Amino acid sequence: MKKINLAVVGATGMVGRTFLKVLEERQLPIDNFYVMASSRSAGSKLTFNGKEYTVEELTEHSFDKPIDIALFSAGGGTSEKFAPIAAAHGCIVIDNSSQWRMDPEVPLVVPEVNPEDIAWHKNIIANPNCSTIQAMVALKPLDDKYKIKRVVYSTYQAVSGAGLAGWKDLENGLKGEAPKKFPHPIANNCLPHIDVFLDNGYTKEEMKMVNETRKILHNDEMRVTATTVRVPVFDCHSESINIEFEKPFEMDELLETLKNAPGVVLQNNSAANEYPLAVDAAGHDEVFIGRVRRDESVESGVNIWVVADNIRKGAATNAVQIAEEIIKNMQ
Ligand SMILES: NC(=O)c1ccc[n+]([C@@H]2O[C@H](COP(=O)([O-])OP(=O)(O)OC[C@H]3O[C@@H](n4cnc5c(N)ncnc54)[C@H](OP(=O)(O)O)[C@@H]3O)[C@@H](O)[C@H]2O)c1
Repeated sequence: MKKINLAVVGATGMVGRTFLKVLEERQLPIDNFYVMASSRSAGSKLTFNGKEYTVEELTEHSFDKPIDIALFSAGGGTSEKFAPIAAAHGCIVIDNSSQWRMDPEVPLVVPEVNPEDIAWHKNIIANPNCSTIQAMVALKPLDDKYKIKRVVYSTYQAVSGAGLAGWKDLENGLKGEAPKKFPHPIANNCLPHIDVFLDNGYTKEEMKMVNETRKILHNDEMRVTATTVRVPVFDCHSESINIEFEKPFEMDELLETLKNAPGVVLQNNSAANEYPLAVDAAGHDEVFIGRVRRDESVESGVNIWVVADNIRKGAATNAVQIAEEIIKNMQ
């Protein structure tokens, strides 16, 4: 397999550090490896594959050296400025921020769902929002079989989704300290507020789920609505998803479809109190689905409970899977 030069931008962050872990675990064929962040942590050390690397400050000249793939997770502003610079140097950027996701020139990819979209990239590929990624892995096999008409998302999202600062707000909040990242205490609380409020009364996080779902499933007509909530959980997003289909379904067949779907683990044994839990999903790459039950209020609909590690499948693992697809096609 061809060895590539790879950079992690935002390597000192919550997602960045997980990139290093996932790249090690999946043994990507890396020749030269670079870790980049802001001037704040330039000069600090990170260990990768048993070797110490010095964090470089990200500048306009960072991509003068040959880098095949750069995994960006350093915020939207950084991606807006530096992803085009990297792309112009021939580097393929896989970006974790929301900056490029809805750009019609940029594919938005979950490898189990729409790997074919990677083919039309112009050196920037977007990783979807963490809450969207896990929902897509669950919805795609059902959409293929029963054609989804409408989706209602209600999320229960971990503080790690707001980076290291979000994590600290819960850790310190449990000791009685005031929040610094969130507008209200997150300890012993639920905040129906993720990202900024928009003119339509939704939050940006909610509209990300709506718009990204349509783009990834290639269906602009799909009716989608969302309520996204931050909960006092360190790792893993949980989601209640209500889905209405155009076609009828048999429950046995629907369960079999989910069980056989790529990237899915079905944990659907309520009689034995078995259903997906954040504490069990943490550290895993799969999307866990349970509490599957018919929605008796509509002609053809189902309720499901979907849990995944937001930093792994919701960010780092998904991006590394995209990198693996690209490397495969480089051979
Ligand atoms: N957490 C999640 O669940 C999740 C999921 C999907 C996507 N994302 C996205 O991934 C990105 C990072 O999230 P995170 O949770 O890892 O945040 P984080 O823990 O706050 O880390 C931010 C990283 O970005 C770097 N950075 C900030 N400004 C920079 C600049 N001007 N130039 C270069 N590097 C800069 C920081 O470097 P310093 O150490 O130098 O400050 C740090 O490495 C965000 O865009 C976020 O929306 C996060």
